[in-house]
Amino acid sequence: MVKLIPSILSADFFDLGHAINELQKGGADGIHVDVMDGHFVPNISMGPMMVKSIKSHINMFMDVHLMIDNPDEYIDAFSKAGADSITVHAEVLRHPLRTIDIIKRNGLKAAIALNPATPLSVLDYIMDAADMILLMTVNPGFGGQQFIPSMLDKIADLKRIKDNRGFNFDIQIDGGITMDNVHAVMAAGANVIVTGSAILNQPDIAEAAADFKYNMLR
Ligand code: DX5
Ligand code: ZN
Repeated sequence: MVKLIPSILSADFFDLGHAINELQKGGADGIHVDVMDGHFVPNISMGPMMVKSIKSHINMFMDVHLMIDNPDEYIDAFSKAGADSITVHAEVLRHPLRTIDIIKRNGLKAAIALNPATPLSVLDYIMDAADMILLMTVNPGFGGQQFIPSMLDKIADLKRIKDNRGFNFDIQIDGGITMDNVHAVMAAGANVIVTGSAILNQPDIAEAAADFKYNMLR
């Protein structure tokens, strides 16, 4: 099952409600919320109050991507705010299985993200605990960056490991995904597609989301 989860990072925040309504109209399978703390990544974006506000207006799956140094301290707040899934970066986790456990005990899906340069081997003994693995296909911090081509091999390697070991976590990819490269990342094994600027920078967001999804699924 392939899903399209647009990132609202590239939305015009003055008009965020409109953008999210349009994404829903266009058939998005959820909303990807990029949380940045200015430490783990060189940018600051949004927090739990944003998730709470969005969730109070629209019932869409909220996929929260924490690009922050101390994710353990914020799981509770994002859970209360209405997150459905929380993704934490392997690079900052001291006790990854404990963090995954805390997320799951809150009744949420738990995902682990890897920066482009982080090897898959950090997941060797923990991947069975995750509902989803997020492979970053740009260096996190900003929307609108170029897809890093060598990530295709990384996606394929993860898919091979997943199949060999009989796991069923989702493989999400995030960063620089466009209509032109989405088929390649899906062929490599990704099944949850995050895309920001390719949809949110279009004048008609609903149409752009619907087109993207149609193109993805054909
Ligand atoms: C990057 C974020 C991504 C990003 C995606 O740090 O995690 O979710 O906003 O945006 P595009 O598709 O424009 O690369
Ligand atoms: Zn993201």
